[in-house]
Amino acid sequence: MPVSSGLPPTSTFEGEPVSAVVILAAGEGKRMRSSRSKLLHEIAGRSMLSYAVDAAAALQPEHVVVVVGHLREQVEAHLAEIAPHVTTVVQTEQRGTGHAVQVALAALPDLTGDVLVTYGDVPMLTADTLVALVADHRGARTSVSVLTARVDDPTGYGRIVRGAGDDVLAIVEDRDASEEQRGIDEINSGIYVFEPQTLREGLAQLRPTNDQGELYLTDVVALAREAGRTVSAYATADAWQTEGVNDRVQLARMNAEVNRRTLEAWMRAGVTVVDPATTWVHASVDLAEDVTLLPGTSLEGATSVAAGATIGPDTTLVDVEVGEGATVVRAHGSLAVIGAGASVGPYAYLRPGTVLGERGKIGTFVETKNASIGAGTKVPHLTYAGDVEIGEDANIGAGVIFANYDGVTKSRTRVGRASFVGSDSTLVAPVVVADGAYVGAGSTVTGDVGAGELAVSRGRQRNVAGWVARKRAGTKTAAAAEAAGASLAAGAGDGSADVAPDAPVPPPEQAQDVVHAPLTDQAVVPPGPDRPNTDERES
Ligand code: UD1
Ligand code: CA
Repeated sequence: MPVSSGLPPTSTFEGEPVSAVVILAAGEGKRMRSSRSKLLHEIAGRSMLSYAVDAAAALQPEHVVVVVGHLREQVEAHLAEIAPHVTTVVQTEQRGTGHAVQVALAALPDLTGDVLVTYGDVPMLTADTLVALVADHRGARTSVSVLTARVDDPTGYGRIVRGAGDDVLAIVEDRDASEEQRGIDEINSGIYVFEPQTLREGLAQLRPTNDQGELYLTDVVALAREAGRTVSAYATADAWQTEGVNDRVQLARMNAEVNRRTLEAWMRAGVTVVDPATTWVHASVDLAEDVTLLPGTSLEGATSVAAGATIGPDTTLVDVEVGEGATVVRAHGSLAVIGAGASVGPYAYLRPGTVLGERGKIGTFVETKNASIGAGTKVPHLTYAGDVEIGEDANIGAGVIFANYDGVTKSRTRVGRASFVGSDSTLVAPVVVADGAYVGAGSTVTGDVGAGELAVSRGRQRNVAGWVARKRAGTKTAAAAEAAGASLAAGAGDGSADVAPDAPVPPPEQAQDVVHAPLTDQAVVPPGPDRPNTDERES
């Protein structure tokens, strides 16, 4: 059973409902230098915007409004997919954070409860912190509460200007701040709770009298003070939660931090992570006790790993279920199931629809797709298994190809329980190999094989005595043959005599030759001319 990651549980909000959460997401995100909206760039496999929407949803507000603008078609399409319940409002011109909230409120009915404002590009902000901010706001009975953090380098952020009694007087933007105010290390996260009347009145009075000529939401704080209202600040000890992502350097840093926290939680829950720096685990992944993650492992999507399994090194699993005690080495898998005690890799590619039974094996340089491989069945080497169903305890030899595609349609192959497919065979679908059947090595199987039968289809081996002495005279091979006592007699040295009369090449229509007798021990030779290489000089 998977255990809890120890990650903070998602709070649900108790008490008066929040009227609206407004998520600001209209800005350009210029520093990402991307044709893709900044908000769709991902942290731990999810869009930045999805974190903001999820945190908002946890408060169960009456309305969630996302203010969109730049690249809004992309953002709207994404929201329709991940959060159809949210309302989007278009801010055609980005005239500032205050203007963005004006546009949002204009799209909503009159609100009576608290209004929360957050950003779409602050992915680490948790629902817990929003809940705590609202609780603090309500406890302090203030008109505005702002989420703040103390940071080492406050450059660029709005500063929290506090009065004598620690109450908040104003928020001053970096570019508008005095030298003294720049020294303040408590920054405005841009996340607030507003009493709705205070917000409405403040928004109505905003003027673009600042360095950027914008309508600043931060000015609502000073305006509330002027109107005799109180403003409080709730400082989070976790500054990451207030951090926005503006460029890809910050994106990578935040990704690493989120991952570090996820891994730390899993390590505390009993997972061994040999190298946290090269191990990536999405929050959606479930791990059990005594799972071991080796370096270079990336676990994504709905992947789950049961107790005692070992993953890696150098393995990526997306939406893969790994059973107890299984091992997966240097593999890439998606939408696959790996049974308990099974082994995968090294160097395996499990494509969607792969189901490997308990104690089964998908070995080295094996690719599988829509492949159900029974318990205890082994596909150990160099195989393509597409659209197959293999029963329990079967053995698939090296280099077997399940040829599933004729250029037009895909067909399935079935191999029965405890059957044995010899190396270098091609099973041309649709074809059925029954329970307890054999396919001889090097066969091309185009017709069904019955229970207990052996199918073999390949050219019979013929040995041409004296060939080396005649055709390769003077080579080291010829010398070795002579030293080994090889007969020089057979054949007259004339190419026409090369075909040994006792070894006819089967005509093509006999390509699948079902025999009921055991193969001789020398029957494994590909058909073809007697020349062992492609040297054309003598032809
Ligand atoms: C803002 C705050 C600053 C705070 C910082 C925290 C103001 C005036 N300043 O500054 O005090 O420290 O956030 O990160 O509010 N947006 C819109 N429409 C607009 C403008 C902005 O939707 O017209 C959105 C942006 O997409 C972004 C957010 O609002 O998500 C913040 O905008 P940004 O321009 O980054 O504000 P900052 O200058 O960083
Ligand atoms: Ca910003």
